[in-house]
Amino acid sequence: PVTPLIDGFGRQVTYVRLSVTDRCDFRCVYCMEEDMIFLPREKVLTLEEIALIADAFAQLGVNKIRLTGGEPLVRRNVMELIHHIGDLEQITDFAMTSNGSQLGRMAGDLKAAGLKRLNISLDSLDPVLFHQLTRKGDLNQVVAGIDAAVAAGFKGIKLNAVILKGRNDHEILDLLEFAIARDIDISYIEEMPLGEISEHQRDETYCSSDEVRETIAARYELLPTTEKTDGPSRYFRIPGLKTKVGFISPYSHNFCSSCNRVRVTAEGRLLLCLGNEHSVDLRAIIRANPGDIEPLKQAIRDSMAIKPERHHFTTDGDVQVVRFMNMTGG
Ligand code: GTP
Ligand code: 5AD
Ligand code: SF4
Repeated sequence: PVTPLIDGFGRQVTYVRLSVTDRCDFRCVYCMEEDMIFLPREKVLTLEEIALIADAFAQLGVNKIRLTGGEPLVRRNVMELIHHIGDLEQITDFAMTSNGSQLGRMAGDLKAAGLKRLNISLDSLDPVLFHQLTRKGDLNQVVAGIDAAVAAGFKGIKLNAVILKGRNDHEILDLLEFAIARDIDISYIEEMPLGEISEHQRDETYCSSDEVRETIAARYELLPTTEKTDGPSRYFRIPGLKTKVGFISPYSHNFCSSCNRVRVTAEGRLLLCLGNEHSVDLRAIIRANPGDIEPLKQAIRDSMAIKPERHHFTTDGDVQVVRFMNMTGG
């Protein structure tokens, strides 16, 4: 029997988000700077090191792993890691967050390797605006990737749309209808203050989930679901439709009291909270004890003592966390 991971506030950690790379083929305006410099190779965990971390968490009662980035699918040989995690019997929920650019060629392999759910970022259906917001993305390629994921038979596909006032807030309904047409889910996300970005002033583009919900409610009936999700999204359904609509509102709706998750950055930093810097250097532990899982498990158990109670994001444009989102994977 495993002793569960319980933090100082009585919350059990059952979910780990693993960032497999800080690199990305996009440069989304709310996530990175245009001239972002990525980590040197030796600082990034090897795929074997990430697999060992996944094993350690699986042996500590974690049942959900989500791979994030940067863009996880731009990492060379990432399929080896996906097969490894797909084969871990403790991991009953195996998911990925992706920008969709590589899904056209990879969706079928991901399904076959045991990936269960996919979250795909999509902030605009206008090719010009899509390219402005991602700075590098090609809308057609991402739409083809989403359709490949649907065709591959993934059941849990969710679109992630970060809504920025004055930029893409006029597309709230179009994005919803894109999801409805494919029977997939969609989450609307409030932009979070991670990393100093220069492209826009975050206090000027902030769009609350309540505003997004009102825009949708003017056209569709939104019924709150009582369904217990283990994430920050609050979900609604629309009568007669399969699509569920989620809202991730770190400012307007704090969900830290039920937090069940930790993150590991591409450098192997175990982050105990998205909105704080408390962390443990797992890479140092692995490299000091090559191939030995026990010291790693002990460090993870010990880390529970420093998981903070909550984040303190505010909408006044202050950056409390200097890490960019691509270091954390959200
Ligand atoms: P699940 O992880 O399966 O619950 O899905 P998710 O929607 O949380 O994951 P995804 O990677 O698609 O992230 C969507 C958005 O939620 C991103 O903007 C993340 O930064 C944000 N997010 C995920 N976890 C947390 C969290 O613990 N706190 C905060 N504030 N935001 C989070
Ligand atoms: N605030 C909110 N969401 C963000 N994402 C990236 N940066 C931010 C930010 N600053 C989203 C991406 C992706 C998910 C992993 O996080 O759009 O959907
Ligand atoms: Fe890449 Fe995702 Fe960041 Fe966009 S939000 S630059 S797709 S990591």
